[in-house]
Amino acid sequence: MKVGIVGAGMVGSAAGYAMALTGAASRIVLVDRDAALAQAQAQDIAHAVPFASAAVVEAGGYDALAGAGVVVLAAGVGQKPGESRLALLERNAAVFEDVVGAVRAAAPRAILLIATNPVDVMTHVATRLSGLSPGRVIGSGTILDTARFRMLLAGHLGLAPQSVHGYVLGEHGDSEVLGWSGARVGSEPLASVAAQLGAAITADVRARIDAGVRGAAYRIIAGKGATNYGIGAGLARIVRAIGRDEQAVLSLSVVTPEAAGVRDVALSLPRVVGAGGVGTTLMPTLDAAETRALAASAALLRETAGALGL
Ligand code: LAC
Repeated sequence: MKVGIVGAGMVGSAAGYAMALTGAASRIVLVDRDAALAQAQAQDIAHAVPFASAAVVEAGGYDALAGAGVVVLAAGVGQKPGESRLALLERNAAVFEDVVGAVRAAAPRAILLIATNPVDVMTHVATRLSGLSPGRVIGSGTILDTARFRMLLAGHLGLAPQSVHGYVLGEHGDSEVLGWSGARVGSEPLASVAAQLGAAITADVRARIDAGVRGAAYRIIAGKGATNYGIGAGLARIVRAIGRDEQAVLSLSVVTPEAAGVRDVALSLPRVVGAGGVGTTLMPTLDAAETRALAASAALLRETAGALGL
């Protein structure tokens, strides 16, 4: 499947690199207003291809997006150290005013995959601007936070992250909700496995893992100026699920008619994703505290989108 990536900066280029290494895309086209940057990133990624998949990697203008099955929108500004994702909204919404229309004209059949932060409201903006059905405008949402949650849980238990299951829900941001009550190892509830392994999930452990997930981006940005490898791999995972029509269950952000009592809001929930984009939403079973937290996260996103007239 041909995949376009608009925005050849840290996130877009990492996504293209991950797609080339994993074989998630057979053709990758990088587009950026800085044509020299797009060209350099494409050439650099192409030099990895002989060690990995058979992807063709190139750079071009918006016309080069023709025929893409997915176009990743990674254009816009990123967080500065200490800056919240929501603080980027006005600047990046203005960027999308131009980008979304150009992408739709060049690749009218493409699913839009939104990476630009604040990703949930940017997904809402792109859905409105594109006129596409919500399932075809997918935000990476909390796919990365879910990976961080699973990785930290697995580290505590001494297990592989791939064997730990659980989701982060709601905003990809400060109000996100860690789904502790639904976390599993294999088919076993987390608490049961933790007890068997002598690795109880104490209040301190929960607090440490919560801070580890919620603060990950801030720490990484303080150290290197941006995050890119984790989100790049997450974007490649979504592209693979679409390209292979996997019907995979991933925590993704889509404009949702109603969630946690809030109407018309883009937030992350477990979604079934395949060739047609996002289909079914699998509403998670949450405890009372998680339900309250998800409602608060959804309300914050609804209010933020409302301020933009969405
Ligand atoms: C992060 C960015 C992608 O959480 O928002 O690393």
